[in-house]
Amino acid sequence: MPGRVKADLKGVPETALWTLYHRAAEAARPDTVLPDPRAVQLLTEIEFPFRERMGAARPWLAQAIALRALGFDRVVRAFLADRPDGTVVALGEGLETQFWRVDNGRAQWVTVDLNGPLALRKRVLPHGARQRLVACDARDSQWMADIDPSRGVLVTAQGLLMYLQPAQVTRLIAACADAFPGGTMVFDTVSRRFSTRTRTRTKGPGGHRLPPMPWGMDAVDRDLLRQAHPAISEVSEVPLPAGRGFIGYLAPRAAALPLLRTDRPLITRLRFGAAPASLTGQP
Ligand SMILES: C[S@@+](CC[C@H](N)C(=O)[O-])C[C@H]1O[C@@H](n2cnc3c(N)ncnc32)[C@H](O)[C@@H]1O
Repeated sequence: MPGRVKADLKGVPETALWTLYHRAAEAARPDTVLPDPRAVQLLTEIEFPFRERMGAARPWLAQAIALRALGFDRVVRAFLADRPDGTVVALGEGLETQFWRVDNGRAQWVTVDLNGPLALRKRVLPHGARQRLVACDARDSQWMADIDPSRGVLVTAQGLLMYLQPAQVTRLIAACADAFPGGTMVFDTVSRRFSTRTRTRTKGPGGHRLPPMPWGMDAVDRDLLRQAHPAISEVSEVPLPAGRGFIGYLAPRAAALPLLRTDRPLITRLRFGAAPASLTGQP
């Protein structure tokens, strides 16, 4: 097809195409759980051998990826209902089209990603005046420059932290707690068992080989996140929304099922209180 933009991403950056592929497959269904015409259109505009490299998009997996995105959308909408002029910082945003699903016409939106995926995003998505693209490693705090904490900040990391080392995750969370007092952070995780499986190079869901995911976390580990920084005032689970069929029934109920209670993906929200006086040097 003429005029398509060639995508040449490998390794972890390529996973931005994998999640887009599944969200678009789900969004193309008449009974979709996540309407997203922009994702569907994007898939036709990017030149990449999706099927050859990633296999057929399996409906259960496409729905699961879309339900995760919908879970994030709900957190962003709740944040913007509270802080309509606030800033959403989407770390590792890849080709997520969430801005167009949730925008309230006032929010500031900052996309942070590595050079390759960010350059592709710039070419295929029309960014407006309230959107800013920052080519930066999320582990490098430079992306925090120029973000106004006074109007409220929500940091999202969808499909990112599992690709970092555990100590890097702790440092990133601590840096966010430090930089954005009163802010919120939301991210998803894979289980410890799933993380181990990816490191032993067995195939992932849908038969596609995903890159190794060094960081895994189980629900019982969630409270340990508080140890990352004293300003973390709340740690809570964001339940997956209900969807369609068996997967859609299971998604919000997984915590109650013995087999899935520990070995399941999670979405976690952290709230950051004001920095303690001992850290700010205030009397
Ligand atoms: C699985 S994709 C998720 C993309 C998008 N958030 C979504 O849910 O569709 C992982 C994304 O994280 C980005 N990424 C990986 N490591 C990163 C890092 N150290 N700093 C910034 N972005 C990173 C990748 O380039 C990719 O866009």
